[in-house]
Amino acid sequence: MRHLLSTKDLSRDDAITLLDVAEEMAEVSSREVKKLPALRGKTVVNLFFEDSTRTRISFEAAAKRLSADVINFAAKGSSVSKGESLKDTVQTLGAMGVDGIVIRHGASGAPRVLADSAWIDAAVVNAGDGTHEHPTQALLDAFTMRRRIHGVGSRGRDLDGVRVLIVGDVLHSRVARSNAWLLRTLGAHVTFAAPPTLLPSTPEPFGAAVHHDLDVALAEDPDVVMMLRIQQERMNEAFFPNPREYTRHWGLTAQRFARFDVRTLVMHPGPMNRGLEIAGVAADDPRSTIVEQVENGVSVRMAALYLTMTSEATPAPTSTSQEATA
Ligand code: CP
Repeated sequence: MRHLLSTKDLSRDDAITLLDVAEEMAEVSSREVKKLPALRGKTVVNLFFEDSTRTRISFEAAAKRLSADVINFAAKGSSVSKGESLKDTVQTLGAMGVDGIVIRHGASGAPRVLADSAWIDAAVVNAGDGTHEHPTQALLDAFTMRRRIHGVGSRGRDLDGVRVLIVGDVLHSRVARSNAWLLRTLGAHVTFAAPPTLLPSTPEPFGAAVHHDLDVALAEDPDVVMMLRIQQERMNEAFFPNPREYTRHWGLTAQRFARFDVRTLVMHPGPMNRGLEIAGVAADDPRSTIVEQVENGVSVRMAALYLTMTSEATPAPTSTSQEATA
């Protein structure tokens, strides 16, 4: 795998391999010395043109656990604010010797442009591009579901028959899109629940069925309820009357959560708008996987960097971790 740009591109085998390698990486992360020498001598640049907490920090942790050198670049405070282009920024970084680029950009398609260009010879991993895709978020979500449903350490398994309800701001959500493609590839049944104003105008967006009433959708007793963040920073008009109305119709309130089955998982990619799309009582319940999703993000991103930056097609030989330097 040379680049990781989209989950739509991933075959079932590629996706399962990535999740299985992430299991190996999770095992490494549970050791006292959380390091492998797999990317020793290689350099990873985290190239972030949009804000991030989870994704940027977990890519940094992932690269360091694989013994890579890491350069963190944030557009804020860089020569981007003086008008420097993506091409010139990337060529400047390339001149310093870079093997992998993790890019988050506000423009949908920016990682693809970079991967298809001759500006730099490096593996490109999409860390979120506009409203298009966030493939490592979907992979960590699938990894988290697989661990909760099939058990920690389960390998070779998909999500066949798992019913996932994705709720809220689908229109602006790259997480929703990447999850819809990936979960379907893994055999899950995906449904969106959202107001018409927060859905793309196609009848079955990204191949998923749609509900326009959250309580009807929840009555179908999904295995997983994934709440999406209201992306106010991407809204330049009113998509719902006011926050209180949104919560009443589309929020995972304490009252709705009280009706959940004891096995139903609650997910959210973060950052959360507590009290708007999700009540604290749901976010903090043992059925919530929100903190696990962040923890699993490091293992999944280790797998993504390993598989894109090395030529090996097979999982990392974790026994060599003993050779790693701290
Ligand atoms: N889920 C996610 O992408 O979070 P950050 O914006 O904090 O990276």
